[in-house]
Amino acid sequence: MRVAVLLSGRGSNFQAIHEAIARGELPAQIVCVISNRPDAAGLQRARDYGYAAHAIDHKLFASRAAHETEVLRVLDEARPDFIALAGYMRLLGAEFIARWRNRIVNIHPSLLPAFPGVDAQAQAVAYGVKVSGCTVHLVDEQLDAGPILVQRAVPVHEDDDASTLAARILSQEHAAYVEALRSLATRAWRVEGRRVVFS
Ligand code: GAR
Repeated sequence: MRVAVLLSGRGSNFQAIHEAIARGELPAQIVCVISNRPDAAGLQRARDYGYAAHAIDHKLFASRAAHETEVLRVLDEARPDFIALAGYMRLLGAEFIARWRNRIVNIHPSLLPAFPGVDAQAQAVAYGVKVSGCTVHLVDEQLDAGPILVQRAVPVHEDDDASTLAARILSQEHAAYVEALRSLATRAWRVEGRRVVFS
């Protein structure tokens, strides 16, 4: 399975995918890494690993559509089976999503549909939930809302703040992302309504 990774920051989920492949636990190949932020640590990490790493700075484009046209061009060249959003902090336009329908995977640091959008861990702490976690899902036109592939739960402790909760969730994210990609790579699946059905 050929995977393109899109990221905007640290890139620890990208690193987890890379390491799972290196350990032989994920039958996949990372065919390119794209970041909308040239200074993203994850992009440097991708270069260090020897991947085709592309900085496509959204600030240099006149519109979201123009930026996405360039991202799509690089993706067309790399020919991935799946696009893995790994902390990619840009909304994708409807045309982009339609072009890659059910081939874009995202990870979000909450148990969706709770706490979509930014600062999900802070939202969870502020709400007072006792359990949170992460969700790996297919991307559709709604924000953080597509069919769910994998969820992992963690407890929220009395003395948690957003950063302690984020750290607890993050270690589950790495396993969840690998698990989701492994399922997509190795099992037959289809989307039925909101559900991803593996057979
Ligand atoms: C992760 O916690 C991921 O779930 C989150 O950004 C972080 C990226 O970390 N994504 C979102 O909030 C998307 N809405 P990483 O760069 O170390 O993988």
